[in-house]
Amino acid sequence: MKIQIITLFPEMFPGVLNTSMLWKAQDKQLAEISYINLRDYGLGTRRVVDDTPYGGGDGMLLKPEPLVAAIEDAKKNDPDALVILPTPRGKLYKQSEAKALALEKGLILICPRYEGYDERITEWVDRQYSIGNYVLTGGELPAMILIDSIVRLIPGVLGGENSAEIESFQQDDENIEFPQYTRPEEFRGVKVPDVLLSGHHAEIAKWRKESSR
Ligand code: 6GU
Repeated sequence: MKIQIITLFPEMFPGVLNTSMLWKAQDKQLAEISYINLRDYGLGTRRVVDDTPYGGGDGMLLKPEPLVAAIEDAKKNDPDALVILPTPRGKLYKQSEAKALALEKGLILICPRYEGYDERITEWVDRQYSIGNYVLTGGELPAMILIDSIVRLIPGVLGGENSAEIESFQQDDENIEFPQYTRPEEFRGVKVPDVLLSGHHAEIAKWRKESSR
């Protein structure tokens, strides 16, 4: 999967995306992540990307020209890529969306900054997602969260395991994870539930289903 990230702050990403499973996914060429610096599309010698809102109000908005030029360049690299805009005004992002997006060949993620963006850019956007009911300072953290949730579902990324497969039976309104334990059997007086030591696979599956509710 080709993932292009349009951002004013590319330096925010490598620590998160070049670690652990996300690094492995890129090393195995299952994901290819690249950055487009929105500043490069800024207007004039000062590379302006923002302006004040019509109608007044606090803060600055991303202007449409640089953002749409960046999207168009990303599309030239990958014409069929899906364009995603993280925004607190978007549809609440859930595991079912991650599963659907993991089937795409290419994604373009836009990371808004300032107080927002000129609404006209949404004409160039395929999906708008919010990652929860709170407000963040920019789209970079949401973009990283989307990428993490999507890339781990690409077949071959969670090598040799079937953890992602098990989750595929889950519904959005169920808890996805059950509690897990490893050695020792007893730690500071707290014991691992007996059923997990029983070797009864059907009982274990039942316990896991119940305790993830
Ligand atoms: Cl996608 N962006 C920002 N800035 N804040 C958010 C969000 C997105 N989702 C929840 N809060």
